[in-house]
Amino acid sequence: MATVSVQLPLADEVMSPTTTSQHIVDHRDAIVETAVNSIPESLITTAAPRKRNVLDMFRLEGRVAVVTGGARGLGYAMAEGLCAAGLSGLAILDLQSDLGESACEQLHSEYGVSARFYRLDVRDEVAVQDAMDAVVRDLGQIDILLLSAGVADLVHAEDYSPAKFRRVIDINLNGSFVCAQAAGKHMIAAGRGGSVIFIGSMSGSIVNWPQPQSAYNASKAGVIHLMKSLSAEWAQYRIRCNSISPGYMDTPLNTAFEETYFGEWKARTPMGRLGQPEELAGCALWLASDASSFCTGSDILIDGGYTVL
Ligand SMILES: NC(=O)c1ccc[n+]([C@@H]2O[C@H](COP(=O)([O-])OP(=O)(O)OC[C@H]3O[C@@H](n4cnc5c(N)ncnc54)[C@H](O)[C@@H]3O)[C@@H](O)[C@H]2O)c1
Repeated sequence: MATVSVQLPLADEVMSPTTTSQHIVDHRDAIVETAVNSIPESLITTAAPRKRNVLDMFRLEGRVAVVTGGARGLGYAMAEGLCAAGLSGLAILDLQSDLGESACEQLHSEYGVSARFYRLDVRDEVAVQDAMDAVVRDLGQIDILLLSAGVADLVHAEDYSPAKFRRVIDINLNGSFVCAQAAGKHMIAAGRGGSVIFIGSMSGSIVNWPQPQSAYNASKAGVIHLMKSLSAEWAQYRIRCNSISPGYMDTPLNTAFEETYFGEWKARTPMGRLGQPEELAGCALWLASDASSFCTGSDILIDGGYTVL
């Protein structure tokens, strides 16, 4: 059924120096009456426009998400957050087949989501494009892309071999671009818009201390600025790009540093602890869903207060 809306002039458009607020109300009523009387009866609907409940805006029924690095850690926890909101299809892209397959099985059995695993290295642009094409064939579309595949290593700058430095930039920064480009092409072709969520880090805007991690820090600063660049370029296609920048989180990425650094990291974090992976899920869901429909180009720090000091 067709609906009709009547554009009312703003109060200051009908305000003259002598009018009172009652005059404005009367004037607007008269305009409405005239406008409504000139609309053919068949076009008038008496149903009030439906106001969307804010919680409904977080629902993801009918949407398909691709999560890189979703086999474990933060990627898995954020994928689970999307599934809990009714996500229809999930593709996990990761290097680790066993973990990736069992992540899909677990999320399917718990939430009923159609979940598929695709093994790849995010540095391999041909494999990434093939996988995105396969996701569209297998699950129908791509609405959400969450880029969590990433690595870190701690090497003093004077000792960093160029190959080791390049590896971090290649996976974290170039890999994010390759995946965003491959999924973005599908989103643009489908014309339905989409949401791309980069995983940056507080390391993209501060220098972690005392451990040396120049490649990681540079890669994450690059990820955040890449996100901002794509948010500007792709706004015309209604593709929103944002990033989540965590502080120190309790995941396998950091397990190796527990003995040496956890005490120091906690002491430097006002909340006095590391974050748990599921503490990113609410933000990922907000960014993935219509609840954040006017948000693009934003980097959201979730770091227990680390960066305020
Ligand atoms: N854990 C933290 O403290 C922390 C803080 C800030 C940002 N981050 C970022 O969050 C993201 C996830 O980190 P995490 O802690 O969950 O790490 P994690 O090691 O637990 O998980 C990373 C996942 O990415 C996958 N992966 C790594 N290299 C890949 C490649 N080349 N191709 C495909 N998949 C690959 C791994 O197999 C793994 O499943 C990373 O980008 C990381 O930099 C982590």
